[in-house]
Amino acid sequence: MVFLASYISLLFSAGAYAASLQQVTNFGTNPTNVGMYVYKPDKLASPPPLLVAAHYCTGSAQAYFSGTPFRSLADQYGVIVIYPNAPDSGGCWDVHTNATLTHNAGGDSLGIVSMVRYAISNYGADANRVFVVGTSSGAMMTNVLIGAYPDIFKGGSAFSGVPFGCFSGATLWNSQCAQGQRIMTGQQWGDLVRAAYPGFTGIRPKMQVWHGTADTTLYPQNFQEEVKQWTNVFNYSTTAQQTLTNNPLNGYTRSIYGDSFQAILAQGVGHTVPEQGNDVFTFFGLNQAASPTTVSTTVPVSTTTIITTTTPITTTTPITTTVPPVTVPTTTAAPPTSTAAGTVAHWGQCGGQGK
Ligand SMILES: *[C@@H]1O[C@H](CO)[C@@H](O)[C@H](O)[C@H]1NC(C)=O
Ligand SMILES: *[C@@H]1O[C@H](CO)[C@@H](O)[C@H](O)[C@H]1NC(C)=O
Repeated sequence: MVFLASYISLLFSAGAYAASLQQVTNFGTNPTNVGMYVYKPDKLASPPPLLVAAHYCTGSAQAYFSGTPFRSLADQYGVIVIYPNAPDSGGCWDVHTNATLTHNAGGDSLGIVSMVRYAISNYGADANRVFVVGTSSGAMMTNVLIGAYPDIFKGGSAFSGVPFGCFSGATLWNSQCAQGQRIMTGQQWGDLVRAAYPGFTGIRPKMQVWHGTADTTLYPQNFQEEVKQWTNVFNYSTTAQQTLTNNPLNGYTRSIYGDSFQAILAQGVGHTVPEQGNDVFTFFGLNQAASPTTVSTTVPVSTTTIITTTTPITTTTPITTTVPPVTVPTTTAAPPTSTAAGTVAHWGQCGGQGK
C-alpha cells in the first residue's frame, strides 16, 4: 500500500493524469489565429476518433470543455476532442466571410481544419472518423465545416445554429439571418454548399440539426432553412421518411430524412437546446468505437507530443491495469429540460451578443 500510495502521489504530482485541456500552438495554417485546445483521454481507442467541439458566442474552449457532456463521453469511448477557441473578442465564430465559407480559402474554418490535419498527423487520429459538434455560433461553424470541408469530416451535429452561408455578409453578426428573415429555396441553399468546394465528388458527411421552437436569438425559421439546405444537398425528399415523437426527450420530434440527415425540433425550448451527448455519439457511431486501451508502454510515440509540455508520461512510466483508474470529474449529462442552467447561460450570452 505504501508503494501504491506513493505511486498515486507521484501520478498526481507529475500531472500524469494526462486528461486535461492542453493548448497547442504552431499546428499549421491559421490565418485568423484560432486557438487550439486538445483533450486527450488517458485511454484511447485505437486509432482514436477525433471530435471538434465548437463553443457558443462569448464562450471559450475551456467553457465548452467544462460545460458539455463531450469530455466524459470522450473518456468513455477513447475519443480525442479538439476545442477550438474563437479569436474574435466577442467569442463568436467567423461564419460570414467568403474565406471561411470556401474550401481551403482561410477564415476561422481553415484554422480549425488545420487542427484536424495536425491531430491526424501527430496524434494518430483516425482520418476516417472525424466529426464536429457545436452550439449556437459553434453550430453555425458546424454547418460551415460540413459544407466547406466535406473531405475532412464524416459527420456534424449542430445545436441551435443556422444554415451554411446564412450569416454571409460584411459583419460578424447577421441580424437578418438570426431573425429568420433569410429565406431561400432548398436549391439555392444547396448551391451555396456545392459552391464552397466545387471540385468535391466524394460522399458528403452526415448531418444532424437541433433547434428549439422558442428560440428568440436564432429564430426557429433557421431550422426550416437548414432542413431545406441539407435535404437538397443529399437529394432527399423534404418529407421525412420517419418521424419520431418524444425522441430523445419529451417534446422533441426527430425527423429522419435519410441515413445522412436528421433534424430534431424541441417544443418550447429556447436558445439553446442542451447538448445531447449520447445522442450525438450514437449518430456519429462513436459509441461503437473499440474499447479504449490503457495508456501503457505501447502508446505510440506520436501521442506523447501533445502532452510533453506538462505531462511527463513516457515509455518508462509503468501505468498498468493494476493501478486503479484515476477518476476524472465528469460534467453532468445535459439535463432534459430547457430550464437547465446551461441553457440559460447560453441564452443570456448569445442574446447579449446578438444585440
Ligand atoms: C464575397 O463573395 C461575393 C459573392 O461572390 C462577392 O459579391 C463579394 O464581393 C465577395 N466579398 C469579398 C470580400 O471578396
Ligand atoms: C435525386 O433524387 C431523384 C428522386 O429519387 C432522382 O430521380 C434524381 O436522379 C436524383 N438526383 C441526383 C442528382 O442524384
